[in-house]
Amino acid sequence: MSKKYNVAVVGATGAVGKMMIQILLERNFPIKKLYLLASKKSEGKKLQINGEEYLITSLEDFDFKDTDIALFSAGGEISKKYASVATKNNTIVIDNTSFFRYEKNIPLIIPEVNGDEISKYNETGIIANPNCSTIQMLVAIKPIHDVCKIKRINVCTYQAVSGSGSLAIEELKDQVHAYTNNKDIKSNVYPKQIAFNVIPQIDKFMDNGYTKEEMKMVWETKKILDNSIEVNPTTVRVPVFYGHSEAVHLELAQKITANKVKDIFMDNSNDVVLIDEHKDGGYPCAANECEDSNDVFVGRVREDISIPNGINLWVVSNNIRKGAAYNSIQIAELLIKNYL
Ligand code: A2P
Repeated sequence: MSKKYNVAVVGATGAVGKMMIQILLERNFPIKKLYLLASKKSEGKKLQINGEEYLITSLEDFDFKDTDIALFSAGGEISKKYASVATKNNTIVIDNTSFFRYEKNIPLIIPEVNGDEISKYNETGIIANPNCSTIQMLVAIKPIHDVCKIKRINVCTYQAVSGSGSLAIEELKDQVHAYTNNKDIKSNVYPKQIAFNVIPQIDKFMDNGYTKEEMKMVWETKKILDNSIEVNPTTVRVPVFYGHSEAVHLELAQKITANKVKDIFMDNSNDVVLIDEHKDGGYPCAANECEDSNDVFVGRVREDISIPNGINLWVVSNNIRKGAAYNSIQIAELLIKNYL
């Protein structure tokens, strides 16, 4: 019989945590015991998943001693406090927050891009899951970079509210309801109204005027793909529930045609789904393609008419799946396949 593992999901009642449970089940991850952990206030609550009932346990009182893998997605402060509690008990932590991402000895993994670096996990027992916007962008551009070096990336994102957690999903629903019923709009999660609006701020402002979400795309592209690539990002929140979209403009070391780029994507069909037809609707959209999909979709492949070696792409993926839960579970699958 093949080996089975005790797995804990930390933040199991949250938008990403619930998806982690769903994907573990969808992919038949070899689970012996599944522990669902959240805050004290959720202790004793039950989650219904695929017709089965699961009990929520308090993280604060949890003993990690027989847990093999813990998937953390309850915010940076929780990872800061509890990841070391888990690793002291020999539990391997796969952390979906940004807390450990930039530490030199902690691997930051997108399996399709730098899966081999997972081997460094044993230095700390922690593997970090990158930011959702970085994951879909790097899955899309890695096959191009392998053929023709990327020097610079100019990117604008259009990011779904689910990236800010379940309270943000409720805020968008409540604001749409209030707007269409002529009621006052209340904003708690976002600094401005998100319904019928576009907000050019994700995460806090940094000293250089960029937001932290923008700098995550810079730091993570360098750490995961190539330290020499320069990135100029603008990250924007839009009133979409699931699925981030990105307009990605690449500056390459040599000229490469749009048709060649499309051929590259067709050869790498396992990692990227190309939808690119020059007709109405011949491109991927968040609400159409990616609601139930783990894939990264690419469309609108064009040569940049303003510079000699430029390529433009439109990249769409489900931020809760490939941008968070699915990527974490791919990491867990690699871990058990090659190391446990
Ligand atoms: P809880 O529901 O008990 O507050 P989201 O990103 O969708 O907002 O979800 C955040 C997740 O992080 C939830 O599962 C939430 O659990 C969990 N969480 C928040 N604070 C804590 C805490 N102090 N200990 C454990 N889990 C926490």
